[in-house]
This record gives sequence, structure tokens and C-alpha cells, in this order.
Amino acid sequence: MERTAAQGARRTVREAENIAVSGSEPYLLGIDVGTSGLKCVLVDLNGRVVAQALQEYAPDSPAPGAAEQDPDTWLQAAGHAVRRVLAGAGIGQVGAARVVSHPTARGEVVAIGFSGQMHSAVFLDGQGDVVRPAILWLDTRAAGVVRELQERLGSAQLGAWTGNPVMTGVTLASLLWLRANEPQNWARVAHVLLAKDYVRYRLTGEVLTDYSDASATAMLDTGRRTWAADLLQANGIPQPWLPALAGSTEVAGHIDRTLAESWGLRPGLPVVCGAGDQEAQAVGNGIIRPGLLSSTIGTGGQLFTPIDSYRHDPALRLHTFCHAVPGLWHWMAATLTAGMALRWLRDQLFEGRYSYDDLAAGAAGIPPGAEGLLFLPYLAGDRTPHLDPLARGVFFGLTLRHTWRHLVRAVMEGVVFSLLDGLRLMRDLGGSIHQAVASGGGARHPLWLQLQADIFDVDIIRVEGQEAAAVGAALLAGTGAGLYPDVATACARAVRWSRDVVQPCPEDAARYREIGERYRSLYPALAGQFHAGAGELL
Ligand code: XUL
Repeated sequence: MERTAAQGARRTVREAENIAVSGSEPYLLGIDVGTSGLKCVLVDLNGRVVAQALQEYAPDSPAPGAAEQDPDTWLQAAGHAVRRVLAGAGIGQVGAARVVSHPTARGEVVAIGFSGQMHSAVFLDGQGDVVRPAILWLDTRAAGVVRELQERLGSAQLGAWTGNPVMTGVTLASLLWLRANEPQNWARVAHVLLAKDYVRYRLTGEVLTDYSDASATAMLDTGRRTWAADLLQANGIPQPWLPALAGSTEVAGHIDRTLAESWGLRPGLPVVCGAGDQEAQAVGNGIIRPGLLSSTIGTGGQLFTPIDSYRHDPALRLHTFCHAVPGLWHWMAATLTAGMALRWLRDQLFEGRYSYDDLAAGAAGIPPGAEGLLFLPYLAGDRTPHLDPLARGVFFGLTLRHTWRHLVRAVMEGVVFSLLDGLRLMRDLGGSIHQAVASGGGARHPLWLQLQADIFDVDIIRVEGQEAAAVGAALLAGTGAGLYPDVATACARAVRWSRDVVQPCPEDAARYREIGERYRSLYPALAGQFHAGAGELL
């Protein structure tokens, strides 16, 4: 089952043809090491994307519940993406000479920054070689390990140590799973890194992570920004395995000559630490002050709001992580299947008869509340607020009167109600949120935007441009390299919000407050059934 790095490196990486070209200088490179692909953007200091490339790959699943990736797939993808982006922009470096071939290209890359999938565990041995494929955040094999940990330590203790829930796929759970299931690999481990940190390590030779990604390992004392020594000791994890900690805008090192030459970059280029994808995306969307909320509806859904002093949810339903902006933290709520729930409806129930536009147009003609039909979007369990892998999707209240359009409306409303659960927790903890920035597929259709405005009862704006995580990584790089004095200046210069604001409709917002009460009563009524039927539901 174990694959070596060399085998991984031989795997072909599918190249998506989406390079776009324009020109200016100086340029920043942002690399987002995602779960289903690596995105690379070249931006100018005004945040204009000069060129971008996507290298697709997929998680491997060698066993039920497993989600793994060979870290060298990321490295190889990064090399391809950087070369394609430089070629797309018409710039590059061959040996000591800078090559400028595109007629509009005048730029030069001055810094690189990283963003990446959070939680995923990369294991290295004492020589810095990969021990086994990375265990990704999607991996659910540690369910037993997580149960045992929670019973042994309890939420209060875990909260005091890290401020965060422990769930399957989080770095701590993956480490404990490794010890229980692969003692031969555990015995070889000398370093544990996150996804983006591995690629940066191979570029610079420096083994480190940033506070945002570290806080998502469930091993950081998030308030103090140090590794949680008592937690590590209680779980037998050697602290020297964990990387040095640094800020997201700190320079981690300089690019190694051989890799620089093979990627077409200037040897010695500064490589900036970067952040987890959620925090980098927040920078790319300008979510860098308390009072702002980012609402992302993509495959999954996330709410994210910055806080200026550390306060965690005592019941550990929300995540409390370090922001990429120095001195800030943030709360985060996650709905595991958001756009994915609509996709399931489109592909499985409607067998592809309707496009997303057809679905949204159909649902727009149905009144708020879908005439009594409710949907719980827990098609892959729930993270916030129930942290329940056994929760399941539900249509509730079906009658002969309901049409396919009602089903679509109920699914879209259910996704936004699930996100509202996270927003309510943030408000209960003292977050006063007055404006939300929508991104992902949920920012593209007027109905999604109106549902967020009405159900959250806040004004919604959209951000222009895509690939916010990779752009955020580039802005962190620019800040680290001294091209912007701070992240706020970088965002003020490079992030553009749409002028149009989607405002809540007072009658619909009032209606949704009532419907929300019914929605929230469903999970407690059904939780016993989800758990009793666990065997069949898996
Ligand atoms: C964050 C999370 C995802 C991954 C996806 O908690 O699980 O956003 O970082 O890349």
C-alpha cells in the first residue's frame, strides 16, 4: 500500500488549460496547495492577475475512509504551475539571464507565498524524506481515535489547551491514528508538516509552519501561539517533531538554486510563510477586521470572522484559529456539503436534467420556506455546530404539493440555515457582524446572495476576481518582501469589492427567523435516530 516519493513523482498531473495573460511589474507568485488541485497566480501589486494556472490531482483512497496524497505530487504540480504561469506571462529565468518574451511582459517575480489545504499531515523522517503519503483532512479513519481522545480528555481540557475541537482528519487525530495503525511508520517519523509547508520546505530547506496552519492542527495553544506542551505530553507526541512557528508574512527562506532554475525563477528569491487556505482566502477577500464576515459556498461552506483578542467557544462547536494578519484570530464554522448538496440534487435526483441556472431559476419562483419543506444538508455528516459524523441529510415535510423547484429551494435554504448556525454561535460569543462578503459559487447567483442576506440578516457584498486563497498568498508574500507595509495596505490596494450591496428584505428576513426555529428543532429530534442507525447509515 505504501508508495514511495519517486513513484508519486512519476504520476502524471493533468494540466488544465486556463492561462490568462496581461502584464505589469513587480510580480508576486501565490501558490495554493489544494485538495483537488494546485492553483498558482502571478499578480501585480494592484492585485491584477497577470497569469494563472491550475494543476489538477485527486486524493487517493487506498482503504475505506482513507484520503491520502503523495506530497511530491504537490511539489511536481507546483513546478508545472509556476513554469506555465511564467510562460503565460512571457517571463522566466534561464540560468543567470532573465527571459522576457511576451510583448506586454515587463515584470519580474519578487516574492512567493503559499496557502494550502489545512489539517493534512505530512510525515518526514530524519533525512527529510517522506515516510508515507500525507493523511488528508478528508480522511475519516481516525473516528475511533477521536472518540477515545474525547472520552479520555473531555472538551473542557481540550478547549483549555487548544481552543478547538478534535475531529477526524485534523493533524493530531492523524498522528494518533498512525501510531495505532502503522507503528513501523510512526517509528520513522522525525517531522510533521502541513501541505503548503512541505512544498516550501522543498523550496527552501526550512522546516516551519505559520500560526494559522499550526492552530488548525489541534496541537497549538491558540491563545499563546505556542505548541500546547501539556497536550503533546498527554498524548505521547514528541514536541521536536513539530515545526518552528512563524508569522504568515515572515520570510521563511530563499529558493534553492536547483529548483529555482528548473522552475524558471531567480535563485535566492524570498519565500514567505503564507497561511492555511481559509486565512489566505480571507486576505484575498479583504476579511481582515472584526465586524466583517466571509461567507463561502463552494463544495463545502465556511463562515469566517476575524477577532482581535483570543476567545474560544467553550462548547468547541466553532473553530478558533490564528488569522494570517499579525495579532488577529478568527472564528470559523464549516458546513461539509454546501454547493455539493445542490450538486447531489442535480446529479442524483434530477440526473443532470437541469443546469445550475435552471435550478436557481426554478427555486426563485418558490416562496421563502418552500411551503413547509425543510432540508438538513448533512449528506457527509456535520461539522458546525453538531460535530457529528453520523448526522445525515433529511427532507422534512414533503407533501403532494411540492415540486422539484421546492426541493431545490429547500436545499439552498438548508445550506444557508446550516451556515446560520455558525453565525449564531459567533454572535453569541460577542461577534458583532454588520457586513458579509460572499464568495464561491454562492456569490454567483442572485438567489444564493439574497438567501444569505435574508437568512443572515446582514448586507452582502461580493468580491471581484477568483482564486482568493492564491491571491491572498501572493499578498502575504508582497507584505513579507516589504512591498506593502502591512496586510491592510495590501488589501486596500489589491482587493476590490463589488459596488452593489444585496440587502435583506425585511419581510423575508422575519419569515426566515420563524422558519429557522423549525429548522433548528430538527437535528435534536433526529440525532438519536442517526446514532441508533449508525451501522446502516454509514
Ligand atoms: C478548513 C478545512 C478546509 C480545508 C480545505 O477547516 O477543512 O477548508 O482547508 O482545503
